Amino acid sequence: MIVTTKQLFQVAYGKYAIGAYNINNAEQAMGLFRGCLASQAPFIIQISKGARKYTDKRMLEAIIRAADEIFPEAIFAVHLDHGDEETCYDCIDSGFYSSVMIDASHEPFEQNVAITKRVVDRAHAKGISVEAELGMLGGVEEDIKVEEGNACLTDPAEAERFVQQTGCDSLACAIGTSHGAFKFKGKQSLHFDVLQKIKDRLPGFPLVMHGSSSVPKTEVDRINAAGGQIAGSMGVDPNEYLPAARLGVAKINIDTDGRLVWTRVHREFFRDKPAEFDFRPPGKVFMEEYSKFIASRNQLLGSAGQLAAVRAALPKSAA
Ligand code: G3H
Ligand code: 13P
Ligand code: ZN
Repeated sequence: MIVTTKQLFQVAYGKYAIGAYNINNAEQAMGLFRGCLASQAPFIIQISKGARKYTDKRMLEAIIRAADEIFPEAIFAVHLDHGDEETCYDCIDSGFYSSVMIDASHEPFEQNVAITKRVVDRAHAKGISVEAELGMLGGVEEDIKVEEGNACLTDPAEAERFVQQTGCDSLACAIGTSHGAFKFKGKQSLHFDVLQKIKDRLPGFPLVMHGSSSVPKTEVDRINAAGGQIAGSMGVDPNEYLPAARLGVAKINIDTDGRLVWTRVHREFFRDKPAEFDFRPPGKVFMEEYSKFIASRNQLLGSAGQLAAVRAALPKSAA
């Protein structure tokens, strides 16, 4: 059942975080739904601009609609990840998305406010929620690369002004993470001091943590042992998900870790079976492994086992 991010945040806020997982194809969708049902967790499916272009946005939407039918017990929201203004309007007008992210975080503050406010006005007219971003994460998101030196943490006072001026429904904050597999060079830790200050200024307001993959060492070691070259990678300590959730982080974005599972499965599969050329056998292994990975993340996010409580909190007509 497709619900809004707002409905999920209302139940989770301050207690646990909802996992927001990117999908690009049917195998990822199957693993995601299976893993969330196995762990009895509500979740958010995210679609990036790149994912919409990979096959066709209608293909992804059809996959999600089909998964909703195949797994009627699942409760999830559908969200545009890192949208620009034009893509946000396309998603708002499509009637399929529960929420959109307008990412104008690379613009100066006033410009970010103006763009976000325009998207908020158009989304709210249709009952759709808006996630915005303030501060800059390091790393690469599709066509925008932020050098480490230019990444900057969210300023708590600015965050308060930003939310007041834009009317956005949730805010992605930069608190030390970055996109991709290379997040930390030395100490692996979130800036809880900054997060606490943002929460103090925005009590009860859902915050979002991007760049939250944990880049498991076991996964990276197996990839490298099977011919990969991603030495030196490091992710977020997944034991910091729950402490962050208790400080108002209601949505935690995980994409890179899924790509690592895919890479490990396929590298090992073809290393061990060099004569194989059918994509279905490794695809089956991937769906199984991704499902297990998702269930393990939901445990760490605290969303595992919450499905019944979320269902009970939905309006009777929806549940
Ligand atoms: O933050 C970006 C997400 O990991 C999505 O990546 O734009 O390559 O689909 P993508
Ligand atoms: P990761 O690269 O850490 O998975 O972050 C994903 C993300 O923030 C998607 O918006
Ligand atoms: Zn992101």
